[in-house]
Amino acid sequence: MTSRRSAVDSFDALLEPFTAGVNAKCLSRTLDGDFDALAAVLAPRADDEGGLLVVDDEMLGALRGVDTRAVEVLLEDRARLAALGREPQLNVITHYRRDTRGLPVSVDVHSFHVDRAPVEADTFLCTYAGASSEGLDDEDAMRIIDDPAIRAALRELHGRDEDFADFLAEGSFDLHFSKRSGATPFTFGVGHLWRLAVAWPGSPVTPCIHRAPDADARPRLMLIS
Ligand SMILES: [Fe+2]
Repeated sequence: MTSRRSAVDSFDALLEPFTAGVNAKCLSRTLDGDFDALAAVLAPRADDEGGLLVVDDEMLGALRGVDTRAVEVLLEDRARLAALGREPQLNVITHYRRDTRGLPVSVDVHSFHVDRAPVEADTFLCTYAGASSEGLDDEDAMRIIDDPAIRAALRELHGRDEDFADFLAEGSFDLHFSKRSGATPFTFGVGHLWRLAVAWPGSPVTPCIHRAPDADARPRLMLIS
């Protein structure tokens, strides 16, 4: 890993506070089960829902002809996070909506970004099937609004100097990053459970920069909390 990412060997270690500049922790796992087939069964329903299907336990239990080991893993992972008081969401994704407004900064999930919350928060993430999420170490990233030309374009869009910082925050423009030239994003991989730092007032570390991968033909199955 790097100075920003650390590998842990237990779920409990994943939960320990972020320290020493690390903003992403990974519990590496090799999961048993055919998650690809399960995602494929639900993909048409995801398409019907605009590309993203929220899968509840009832829906999982009603599936026939899928690998029950995969279903068990999903139920266990969700239960483990729910036991912490979280609301883990299992999604099948065939495509995300893109930000097609043509603004100086695109703010959809395919753009590298950090998550922000008004109170202490973090993000758990696991990709079970399909292309996995990608991340960027801080050292490999530049905040897009720090590019003078983009900043000037956003100021023009806003139309005045007053409340410019609020405008940037309200539009989430300040959350997005570009990759430094020559840098390589890292991949979160399949099956591994990640805990990512989020931007919140008082966070001891920087938030983890990440994005959804470009859509390909494979439906994604992922847990996010
Ligand atoms: Fe995100």
